[in-house]
Amino acid sequence: MMIAIPGVLDAEAVARLRALIDAAEWIDGNATSGHQSALAKRNAQLPEDSPAAREAGRMVLDALGRSAMFIAAGLPLKVYPPLFNRYAGGQAFGTHVDNAIRIQRGTDFRIRSDLSATLFLADPDSYDGGELIVEGQMGAHGVKLPAGDMLLYPATSLHRVAPVTRGERVASFFWLQSMVRDENARRTLFELDTAIQAVAADRGQGDPAIIQLTGVYHNLLRRWADC
Ligand code: NI
Repeated sequence: MMIAIPGVLDAEAVARLRALIDAAEWIDGNATSGHQSALAKRNAQLPEDSPAAREAGRMVLDALGRSAMFIAAGLPLKVYPPLFNRYAGGQAFGTHVDNAIRIQRGTDFRIRSDLSATLFLADPDSYDGGELIVEGQMGAHGVKLPAGDMLLYPATSLHRVAPVTRGERVASFFWLQSMVRDENARRTLFELDTAIQAVAADRGQGDPAIIQLTGVYHNLLRRWADC
């Protein structure tokens, strides 16, 4: 399931975050790559342990914690500290798959990547190219979202970033381990949750059928979740 989450950061938060990271020092993006990725990847990245990356990462994590849609769609157990990258002057990231296990260097923090996330941090009109192209069962989808919006997509998918031919594409990217490992189970829970919220908007949370359906949601989550 690919899902676009609008407004994870508002315009003011994007501007603050960009001011912070634009002033920092960037390095070659291959610092974090596995061997296969390193062959395909041409971009710049904020060093993982730089103060700017850490502060900006905390801003993203705070925003994620306030996003009901992110929590409902991802059912996150662990989130990898957000990283930041930048593409310009024809830079791109060829087709690759993200590592199954991510280990944060110098720590014992490790996660299984169930979902990959890209939080767009540049106005789409300010650059050409730079679509995130995700290959799924229905073919390849190119995605380019407004600044502050985020794409969640299966970490199992092959994906690439198209060459940026004008301007700069700046984004935050990270992975999460979901409480619900199975993608179909996770999608079913999200669809059930979305439907319950929609009906509850009409009938109220206290409606007996809503209460019963909410119970079904939690009983399925109890059955499928590890935490
Ligand atoms: Ni990737």
